[in-house]
Amino acid sequence: MSMKLPFFRKKRTTNFERITLDNPPDHVAIIMDGNGRWAKKRGLPRIAGHKEGMDVVKNIVSVAIKYNVKVLTLYAFSTENWKRPKAEVEFLMKLPKEFLHVYLPEMIENNVRIETIGEFDVLPDYTREAVQYAKEQTSQNDGLLLNFALNYGSRLEIIRGIKQMMSDVDASKITLDDLDEQLFSNYLYTNGLSDPDLLIRTSGEQRLSNFLLWQLAYTEFWFTDVLWPDFNEEIFRQALLDYQQRKRRYGGI
Ligand code: IPE
Ligand code: IPE
Ligand code: MG
Repeated sequence: MSMKLPFFRKKRTTNFERITLDNPPDHVAIIMDGNGRWAKKRGLPRIAGHKEGMDVVKNIVSVAIKYNVKVLTLYAFSTENWKRPKAEVEFLMKLPKEFLHVYLPEMIENNVRIETIGEFDVLPDYTREAVQYAKEQTSQNDGLLLNFALNYGSRLEIIRGIKQMMSDVDASKITLDDLDEQLFSNYLYTNGLSDPDLLIRTSGEQRLSNFLLWQLAYTEFWFTDVLWPDFNEEIFRQALLDYQQRKRRYGGI
C-alpha cells in the first residue's frame, strides 16, 4: 500500500532515464495536428483520433522529461476550433478532464506543473474545474512545465494585451514611454515564459494557425507529415536532434 506524502512532493525526482543533448531546447511548442485524418484513414469518427491523440500527449510528456525539456506548450484547442460541429467541440472540451482523470497522478508523481494559456474563464465548467484543480495540485512542482494552449488564439492574446496595457496607461501604472518589447511581453498569456526554442507541427500542414505569433519570432520550425496520433518518441527525438544542428543567429552573423 502506498501512502501519499505531499510534504515530500517537491523533493521527489522522477525515475526517468535522462538523456543529455549538447544543446537541448528549453521550450518546445507543438501544434498537435492530424487527429481527424488519422481517424478517417481508419474509417473511425474524428473523435477517435482525438482520443488516441490524448494518450500520445502523455507519452510525449515523458519524452520531454527524458530530454530535459523545461517547458512543453501544446496547442490543444484554438479560438477558431469553436467553428467545428457541436459534438466534436464538446468531445474536445471533455478531453482535458478525461486526460487529467487518467494521468494527473502520474503527472504529480513526475513533478510536472500544469498551466494553460488562452481564454480560460469562458471554458465550460467541467473543463475549467478539472484543469483548475490540476493547476492547483501541481503548482508547487518544479519539473517540466506542461502548458496547454486551451481556447488559445494569438491575435486575441495580442488584442487583449493591448487593452490591458492601455488601461494601465489610463490608470497611470505605466506610461507610453515605458512600452518596449519586454514590457509588452508581460501582457501576454506567456508572461514570464521564455519564447519557444523549437516549434513542431505534425500532419504536413506548414502554417501557424494563429499560434504564438509574437513568441515565435526567432523560433526554429520543424514540420513532419506524421499525424499526431502516430507521433512518438523516435520522431520527437529526430526533431530534437535536428534542432541541435540549427545555427540560430538572431539577425547576427
Ligand atoms: C488536431 O487535429 C486537434 C485539434 C485541432 C483540436 P485535427 O482535429 O485538426 O485533425 P485534422 O487536421 O482534421 O486531421
Ligand atoms: C491548429 O490546428 C489548432 C490545434 C492543433 C489545436 P487546426 O487543425 O485547427 O488548424 P487549421 O484549421 O488546419 O489551420
Ligand atoms: Mg487540423
